[in-house]
Amino acid sequence: MQAAIITLFPDYFRGPFDCGPTRVARADGQLDVSFVNPRDFTADAHRTVDDYPFGGGAGMVLKPEPLSAAIESIRRPGSMIVLLSPQGDRFCQPMAEEFSRTGHLVLVCGRYKGVDERIRTMVDREVSVGDYVLAGGEAAAVVIVEAIARLLPGAVGHEDSVSTDSFSVGILDTPYYTRPREFRGSAVPEVLVSGDHASVGRWRREQALKITAQRRPELLRDEVLTESEREFLCRELEKEVLNG
Ligand code: ADE
Repeated sequence: MQAAIITLFPDYFRGPFDCGPTRVARADGQLDVSFVNPRDFTADAHRTVDDYPFGGGAGMVLKPEPLSAAIESIRRPGSMIVLLSPQGDRFCQPMAEEFSRTGHLVLVCGRYKGVDERIRTMVDREVSVGDYVLAGGEAAAVVIVEAIARLLPGAVGHEDSVSTDSFSVGILDTPYYTRPREFRGSAVPEVLVSGDHASVGRWRREQALKITAQRRPELLRDEVLTESEREFLCRELEKEVLNG
């Protein structure tokens, strides 16, 4: 897939895009990332990209002309144009999967107080990576591209690893252990070294359900549970209530 990032700071991406799944996806030709700098679409001697907000107030706003020209320079039929801002829909795993299936994703990074409101009419989506305010959309673009890159075929060592991720399966992930079998007085659960794959699978599923119930119970709303999984969760809940 092709991704284009509209940013005033293309250098920002040098480190993150040269590591891990994003580097692999780019090296394999699965992912092509390009950068467009709105400053290259200015016409004045100072290459001005921002201005004071009408009505007053602190902070600067990205001017519409350079940003719209940057978007128009790369928009093509089928492009998905995404504006990154704290006001957007919350980024999530299904969105990463949806974006990974688009042929041409354009991420527009805001800066300062944000972008001129009229830019919003030029984008297909507005996306936030969380309820906090970043200095600009660049860190959010890194998050989104990395989440997409690891979904592209061949980017992650074990394909299975992606399909069992937290959120890909709708609930949080199970705990994992590696060697040594005993660490600071804490042993690896016996079932994981039993060699009994069915029991390991059941234990992992139960632990994932338990952690989800404890930390993100709302994720269980759409989860289909077997009778024995339901009983397991009730027992765990009972233990928690009784043990305080
Ligand atoms: N730009 C500033 N804060 C942001 C956020 N939380 N998500 C996406 N883009 C942003």
